[in-house]
Order: sequence, then C-alpha cells, then structure tokens
Amino acid sequence: MQWKALALALFAEYVSGQTVPPIGQYPMLRFECSQLVVDRIDPLVNPGSIPSPHLHQIVGGNSFNATLSHDLPSASTCTSCTFSEDFSNYWTAVLYFRARNGTFKRVPQFVSEGLTGNGGITVYYIPSSNKTQSVTAFKPGFRMLVGDSTATSAPEPRKVCHRCMPKTGDNSNINCGDPDTQTLPKGFCEGGIRTIITFPTCWDGVNLDSPDHKSHLAYAQGSKANDVGPTGSCPASHPVVVPQVMYEVMWDTRIFNDKNLWPKDGAQPFVWSFGDQTGYGNHGDYVFGWKDDSLQRAMDARCNGDTCTALKYQAPEEAMKCTVPRVVDEDVDGWLTTLPGDHMPY
Ligand SMILES: *[C@@H]1O[C@H](CO)[C@@H](O)[C@H](O)[C@H]1NC(C)=O
Ligand SMILES: *[C@@H]1O[C@H](CO)[C@@H](O)[C@H](O)[C@H]1NC(C)=O
Ligand SMILES: *[C@@H]1O[C@H](CO)[C@@H](O)[C@H](O)[C@H]1NC(C)=O
Repeated sequence: MQWKALALALFAEYVSGQTVPPIGQYPMLRFECSQLVVDRIDPLVNPGSIPSPHLHQIVGGNSFNATLSHDLPSASTCTSCTFSEDFSNYWTAVLYFRARNGTFKRVPQFVSEGLTGNGGITVYYIPSSNKTQSVTAFKPGFRMLVGDSTATSAPEPRKVCHRCMPKTGDNSNINCGDPDTQTLPKGFCEGGIRTIITFPTCWDGVNLDSPDHKSHLAYAQGSKANDVGPTGSCPASHPVVVPQVMYEVMWDTRIFNDKNLWPKDGAQPFVWSFGDQTGYGNHGDYVFGWKDDSLQRAMDARCNGDTCTALKYQAPEEAMKCTVPRVVDEDVDGWLTTLPGDHMPY
C-alpha cells in the first residue's frame, strides 16, 4: 500500500470517531524482503517434494529448502530482508502473462513505494492499535498458510485480493476493501497489479502447525477485509493475539498493456503459476524464523516502518546479495508453452 495514503486513510478513520489512531501512533513494521529465489518447491504444503506442483517466489533466510524442518536462524547465514535477525521464509505464487499465441511469460515485480530492493515481498507485522494490548510473537517452528490454490469462488473472509493500481497513488484505502477485488483485475492497470495477503491474528496458543496449516489460527470475531492490525476479539478456541502478518506484492503488468498482445475478446490474460486465471486461489505461506526474541522486542517497542532501534538492520544492497540457487532446473522466464508443472489455465 502507499505509505502516505495509508496514513491518511487511518487518520480519516480516526477523526470519524473510530478507535484507530493515525500513523505514528499506529506503528507497524513494514519492510522489504528481496527475492531469495524463484523455485518450484513448497516445504509447507509439499514438504520434501522436488519439484512441488507449482512455482513460487521465496524471500527471507537462506536456509530455505524443500523440507524446512530445521531451526531457521541457526541454519541461515544471511537473509534477503531488511531486518537482519529475520530468517523467516515468506513465499507466494508467481504471476504469468498469457499472450495471444498461448505462450506464457513471467510478470516481473517491483518494490512498494518508499522501499528499496529487487521485487520480492513487502512484509508487515502489525501490533494491536490498543497500546495496552500486547501481541505474542510466534515461536520457533511456527508456520501458517492463507488462501487455497484450488478455490474456484470468492473465499471468506476477504483476506487475499488484488488492486488495479492507478498510474500514481494507490486509490487510498487499505487492505482488501473496495476497490480491491478477489478476482484479478479485468482491464489494463496503469500502475501494475498489487496483491495483498493478510494472515489471521488469533492463535490457539499450543500448535505450531496444523494438518491444513490454517486451523491453529483464526481471524478475530467480526474481522473485516479492511482491518489493520489485530482488532475485534479472539474466539475462546484461539485466545492468543499474534501480530498481523501481511504480504504486499507489486506485479509489473504495465509492460503487457498492449491491445495487440491481449486476447482479441479483451479477456484478462494473467494467470497464477498454479493455473488460476480467476484470482480466487492466490495464497501465501509463512514459516517463522526471527532470531531469539527479536520479533517480540520489535512488537513491544511498537516500531514503525523499516527502521527500529530494537532491531539490527542491513542495507538493501546487502539484503539483495542474499540469494540461493534454484533447486529445480527448468525454464521459468522464457516464453513458455506451458506453465512450470504443466498447469493449464482454469
Ligand atoms: C534442509 O536444510 C537442513 C538444514 O541445513 C538440512 O538438515 C536438510 O537436510 C535440508 N533438506 C533438504 C531437502 O535439502
Ligand atoms: C508468442 O508471442 C510473444 C509475444 O508477442 C512472442 O514474444 C513469442 O515469440 C511468441 N511465440 C511464438 C511461439 O510464436
Ligand atoms: C485494550 O486492551 C486492554 C488489555 O487487553 C483491555 O483491557 C481494554 O479493554 C482494551 N481497550 C479497548 C478500547 O479495547
């Protein structure tokens, strides 16, 4: 999201009598994690599978691999994220453009406003707006998933969405409220496409994972698309308030804004790496890997943006140097006749 617009939106909500205070009083970590690798592995959903069914982009600590059952901070020697104690891994699907002749080209990414890096993911950790309500940082081994790659209708609650970005600015509001859509945008987007993935804020307090990688977490009661940070109350089954993790990914679809490349009938030509052309199936994966209590310190200090005196920091040039080689040897960047893993659009 656009930083200034977010501040304005929060301020508007504040003056309109709701409880969300303006930015500055509403601190959140927001930082760049550059691309570690684009690869067809998925240690959460398909642990040990090389290759996994579809392609992902991965950011974070360089101990990332197909099993990921080890201790991330001790096995990693660098991270692609701004905060150098964050060896977590974050990953999402990647987006392809399907040309009129039926071939696919991977959509490049760009960095969110105000940050520096090489694409990758903008990561948010948002504490409660209620200063007396602390949030509990995740524990080593914790992992979670949002979204469902097989979804063929709009998932509820509305936590994964797309915004057709204007040439400049971001149409103000936050998260997944209007004008964001759960489907991929239909026409040319002058400023590219932004995707948002928002994780739940209530944890059962016991399980680091669950069979579906989801049910050890719950969204707060009455949680809305537009929620910023943990709001509402957690259900009794999931009483522990955790930071709200959010991913923001910017897709540079602008280079494909050409009527001669799009289908003759004008149908939108973008397709997720798992074959989804609706957009409903987008999803995000998370494995916690902050060193020691660094995330808890940052949440308690109510740090804001991508500077935090409670945390160690590295320059974007350093973060961008942290990469790992692709494990699955296949072409992901040419004009491809099928998507990696042989998916056809649905
Ligand atoms: C992943 O990395 C860990 C830690 O380095 C290692 O023990 C494990 O064997 C690796 N798994 C794979 C599939 O490479
Ligand atoms: C398909 O279209 C793209 C975009 O115009 C072009 O770059 C590519 O070479 C074409 N591929 C084939 C096999 O015609
Ligand atoms: C803020 O959190 C505290 C501690 O959990 C709680 O007692 C209080 O009611 C909350 N205030 C608001 C306005 O929700």
